[in-house]
Amino acid sequence: MNKQPDLPSKVKIVEVGPRDGLQNEAQLVSADVKVELVDRLSKAGFPNLEVAAFVSPRWVPQMATSAEVMERIARRPGAIYSALTPNMQGFEGALAARADEVVVFGSASEAFSQKNINCSIAESIARFEPVAKAAREHGIRLRGSISCAFGCPYQGEVSLDAVADVVGRMRDLGCDEIDIADTIGVSTPRKTQAVMLRAAAEFKLDQIAGHFHDTYGQALANIYASLEVGVSIFHSSVSGLSGCPYAKGATGNVATEDVLYLMHGLGIETGIDLALVADAGLFISQQLGRKGVSRAGNAIAAKRVG
Ligand code: HMG
Ligand code: MG
Repeated sequence: MNKQPDLPSKVKIVEVGPRDGLQNEAQLVSADVKVELVDRLSKAGFPNLEVAAFVSPRWVPQMATSAEVMERIARRPGAIYSALTPNMQGFEGALAARADEVVVFGSASEAFSQKNINCSIAESIARFEPVAKAAREHGIRLRGSISCAFGCPYQGEVSLDAVADVVGRMRDLGCDEIDIADTIGVSTPRKTQAVMLRAAAEFKLDQIAGHFHDTYGQALANIYASLEVGVSIFHSSVSGLSGCPYAKGATGNVATEDVLYLMHGLGIETGIDLALVADAGLFISQQLGRKGVSRAGNAIAAKRVG
């Protein structure tokens, strides 16, 4: 099928399952399983994989194996392996682990900032400044992630001005890419477009990413709406794995298999092999002892059996 003239011809899909997906799993997943998951995803062709978080293991126990996972994965040449770094202690961990990209994660909501990283938005930016400087000095890419850009589990509404303000601060830190996150999956398409367009007034549109959780089943619609306004980077989790420990009730990211099915159906290039991603989804679902939530992944699996 030919691509629609009004949509990007190519998108970058960032696989965040090994970090955002697994971080909220109640059962501790072994480093062996994480490494195999990342290796399967690397082989599927993702240009960027978020695989680690150098955060306090008391806050997020599941990420305590980050250094080991980063050490043992088989890196695909050219692919970017990202790690979350809330402060300089996290940066040192990511540097030692040879992360290609570090992610400073803030919020457009004051309440969520306190719950997630134990400081105000302004304090978080001050903590990110030395991280940004160190990343620059070491030639490591810097990404800024903005949680609760569409709504907050603690304060409810989040204004467009609040989003624009944090996008501007992340831009001034020197971020290469900024992701606008619907942490609790509450947005709907028109709102999504309004937020993305406002973010684009502050930062390069082609370096803005959409990070959608699927709590209310709107993630694919929000991704399509983002495509319509020119966003061309999206985050997703294989098999629609889990969510954020500090956003109660929020489900996982949009499932990668579903996003790939959508993109390929629209004639939009991703460079990623959907069949291999579906295999990786089955692998991690079996390891977790439950069926994955990707509709496309489950359909592909059913077809294989049938
Ligand atoms: P704090 O307690 O304010 O930090 O936590 P602190 O500087 O006072 O240090 C307290 C203790 O933490 C010390 O240890 C430090 O060494 C240790 P102690 O002396 O008590 O034994 N510590 C660290 N340990 C390991 N790595 C570090 C680190 N920093 C301090 N980097 C802190 C502040 C940011 C550390 C904490 O709040 C934290 O780790 N939060 C993590 C929250 C998190 O990972 N949330 C999930 C990721 S965000 C997300 O999922 C959203 C996203 O997907 C987008 C979206 O959907 O919205 C990205
Ligand atoms: Mg997230």
